[in-house]
Amino acid sequence: MPPVLDEPVDKYQLPVLNSDNALKLALFAINLRGGATLADVEGNVQARWPEIERYARHADRIGVDAIVPVARWRGYGGDADLGDRSFETFTWATGLLAATQRVQVFATVHVPLVHPVFAAKMAATADHVSGGRFGLNVVAGWYAKELAMFGVTQREHDDRYEVADEWTTIIRRLWTTPGEIDVHGRFFDIPAAFSEPKPLQQPYPTIMSAGTSPAGRDFAAKHADVNFAGLTTFDTAAQQIADIKRFARETHGRELRIFARAHVVCRDTEREAKRYYDLVHRQYGDYAGAANVTGIAKAESQSTDWTMDQKKLLEGMIAGLWGIPMVGTAEQIVDQMLQVHQAGADGIALSFVDYDDGLTRLEQQIQPLLEQAGVRAAGRTPQPAAQS
Ligand SMILES: Cc1cc2nc3c(=O)[nH]c(=O)nc-3n(C[C@H](O)[C@H](O)[C@H](O)COP(=O)(O)O)c2cc1C
Repeated sequence: MPPVLDEPVDKYQLPVLNSDNALKLALFAINLRGGATLADVEGNVQARWPEIERYARHADRIGVDAIVPVARWRGYGGDADLGDRSFETFTWATGLLAATQRVQVFATVHVPLVHPVFAAKMAATADHVSGGRFGLNVVAGWYAKELAMFGVTQREHDDRYEVADEWTTIIRRLWTTPGEIDVHGRFFDIPAAFSEPKPLQQPYPTIMSAGTSPAGRDFAAKHADVNFAGLTTFDTAAQQIADIKRFARETHGRELRIFARAHVVCRDTEREAKRYYDLVHRQYGDYAGAANVTGIAKAESQSTDWTMDQKKLLEGMIAGLWGIPMVGTAEQIVDQMLQVHQAGADGIALSFVDYDDGLTRLEQQIQPLLEQAGVRAAGRTPQPAAQS
């Protein structure tokens, strides 16, 4: 018997899947210029490492459960070309995992760009660096100009998910099967595939998938622990979430968790919050960039309600890449978060225009109210405050 070198970690005991907090919180899009805001305004993400590390440490210290990046290889075009400067997410996640203690940090992988044998080992490496806190957000790709930089031609929408299905089946086998496996699939032919060490997380690292088209739901139902869903309004969220969860239960017998997305503008008064929201997202918004992305996404993605009024669509893109806008006082924002939770969301991934301000308000104003409402435990990581 070879010696056991690694201490296994049960992924269901980690922040994203355990029962410490009924409502999980994640931080979204801190790895690229602009974050999730398509407006070049003071205080937004510049994508410099010290700044990103500061956000991540602050989030970790106040008990945020996950950090999820955007996988981006070029900007969105338009006037400001936001998103042009972004960190590659496996190496980025590994750096942040080394700088934090409790939070789960995800990489977002473009299936058509990374071979599953390579991805399996990168994930295992990040998982070991962090004592078993790595997560993988699997995306099938939509931005053809990015893929073209790698000599890859984008496939038809549903075919992308068929590749993702085979890719994820392979990575799961590599993570869990000792010795060699022979893969002879439709898209991958890998004789004697092998990957050691295995990740620490058992049975394998936490998997998220972003995309809620019918094909995206099918993929999530089969492979994901969490579906990072494209929910844009309160009105339709409950129905959408119920459908996604029911589908996973009925087709694959799996309990799928749902993370919604919220773009949060919190101020001391509702008037101030609304004024700031309007200023950033209506006056300074990069409408040319938003029109560019919306045009591409309309042709390539089925997760957003494209029948929405064009102006609303562009504004939704500028304000959080179609996350649910939550604008107001801490009390109002908590009300909205509780509504989304009651609609069935297990977690909410948050974006802010200014993450320093957002995280401070989350810590001082929003989380205490969520704790009072009984949906968050006071689960802070014991760390010296000076580190934030
Ligand atoms: C919440 C969310 C986050 C996403 N993050 C990324 C990302 O980081 N990079 C990317 O290329 N696509 C991202 N996507 C796009 C999807 O992965 C998917 O490829 C696209 O939406 C088209 O598939 P669909 O029709 O299933 O949505 C994201 C989508 C959603 C809803």
